Amino acid sequence: MSKPITTIGIIGTGAMGRGIAQIAAEAGLRVKLHDTREDAVSEAQTFINKIWTRGVEKQRFSQARADEMISLLEEARTLEAMAECDLVIEAIVERVDAKQALFKQLEQILAEHAILATNTSSLSVTEIASACTRPERVIGLHFFNPVPLMKIVEVIPGVKTNPEVTEAAEALGQRFGHFTARTTDTPGFLVNHAGRAFGTEALRILSEGVTDHVTIDRLLKDQGDFRMGPFTLLDLTGLDVSHSVMESIYHQYYQEPRFRPSPLTGQRLAAGLLGRKSGEGFYRYDNGQAVLPEEPTAPSAKPMPVWISAEDTNANRALASMVEAAGWELEAGNTPSDKALCLLTPYGEDTTDCALRQQLNPARCVAIDMLAGLNKRRCLMTSPVTLAVVRDAAHALFSHDGMPVSVINDSTGFVLQRVVACIVNVGADIAQQRVAEPVIIDRAVELGLGYPWGPLAMGEHYGSQRILTILENLLAATGDPRYRPSPWLRRRARLGIPLNVTSA
Ligand code: NAI
Repeated sequence: MSKPITTIGIIGTGAMGRGIAQIAAEAGLRVKLHDTREDAVSEAQTFINKIWTRGVEKQRFSQARADEMISLLEEARTLEAMAECDLVIEAIVERVDAKQALFKQLEQILAEHAILATNTSSLSVTEIASACTRPERVIGLHFFNPVPLMKIVEVIPGVKTNPEVTEAAEALGQRFGHFTARTTDTPGFLVNHAGRAFGTEALRILSEGVTDHVTIDRLLKDQGDFRMGPFTLLDLTGLDVSHSVMESIYHQYYQEPRFRPSPLTGQRLAAGLLGRKSGEGFYRYDNGQAVLPEEPTAPSAKPMPVWISAEDTNANRALASMVEAAGWELEAGNTPSDKALCLLTPYGEDTTDCALRQQLNPARCVAIDMLAGLNKRRCLMTSPVTLAVVRDAAHALFSHDGMPVSVINDSTGFVLQRVVACIVNVGADIAQQRVAEPVIIDRAVELGLGYPWGPLAMGEHYGSQRILTILENLLAATGDPRYRPSPWLRRRARLGIPLNVTSA
């Protein structure tokens, strides 16, 4: 098992196989390529050569280096031609029977020390390995698309994988210049598992009529610093892919409510609204560009006295300064006058419950999300009986300095609060299940999903106690076990220790 890896084989030279071939040759390995489709290997070689030609044109490396890399890629017309490979990665069709049959054949051809790696994203490595005579040399090496740009690979030992094989696979990933995230063989492994909350909670918010998909995207991008909103992402991936991933992971975890998909996607899939690739998804595309509605403009409204709930003292102070800066009258005292706009700052609670709990008139109440502060897009939330004149006054007040404002209907937690709390909770539960080390969870999610922080660091950023409060209130108001806090989160928030501390 300890022979150094100098020659690797790649079987299946589609989107993933060709990407892996490129980075392997760039790392100086000899690469043998095989595909059952006649021209697939030469197409992959042409594709990679074009990338390297561009690299020479842009003076990233010399022609001599490009020629050297080209000479490392070689077609293997038969599987037998893989005999000298130290490691073979399969990136063929995502079917367990096809992958098992291939590995069984390869076992007859490869040397004793050779490693069999699978690039599967949704199948069990252990199950693929179970068809082999020596499952101890089978491992998951899960790359992301596009492989050269996504600098992460999940390394997934199956139940019987030899630790030396895992170490060799990790060393190979590092040699490729990728971050290696060692994870257990669980559905979705680490990254696709951690990505379950973003889309499903956004879909839930949409299906509750809280607001439209455009506003949800704007809020998560502007307040949450996500690279793109969940509906833009669903359109980019295509519902044909995302819908089945959502269903598959949900069922593989025996209907875990935290991963529950939404009926919205199945219905839209049936209508052919796949996303960018079909010209219409949640957005409509014109020449490849999403057609976005104009941002709603702030209504003109007469100033009215403003009373601010004192429940969150920091928020109260920040809001009072803003009201004063806008030149509006601030009401002091424990109770508002009957002419006041009452500002509430709930966490995981809706405007209705928050107003009634504080014995305020819900018709004069508007809630503001203070999770990300006031220096970004602001989100206001009305109760079902908030007067239009009160809502418009709040909209005008919070827009006075030109900051964009989104007004949403009542919701148990604002958009950002709900989505962030669910992401942190799923991440905490991944840590609880020991799928990977906390530092690995955070870095893998940053690289694999492009989130501004990994889920545990995100919890620290917003405050783990606050995230716990949001989840506990959501659970109490909805009764939905989807929101039950992970023990990992609850214990660490209560103890006041960081979420990335592993201890018994
Ligand atoms: P693809 O459809 O682009 O390429 C698959 C290639 O495998 C095709 O060229 C096909 O001719 C060939 N092939 C199919 N059966 C074969 C067999 N028995 N022997 C030899 N060649 C065979 O697929 P893609 O997207 O490259 O995916 C490949 C694998 O990587 C799948 O297991 C997929 O789940 C996984 N994956 C895909 C990602 C993606 O974003 N596309 C991300 C991570 C993993």
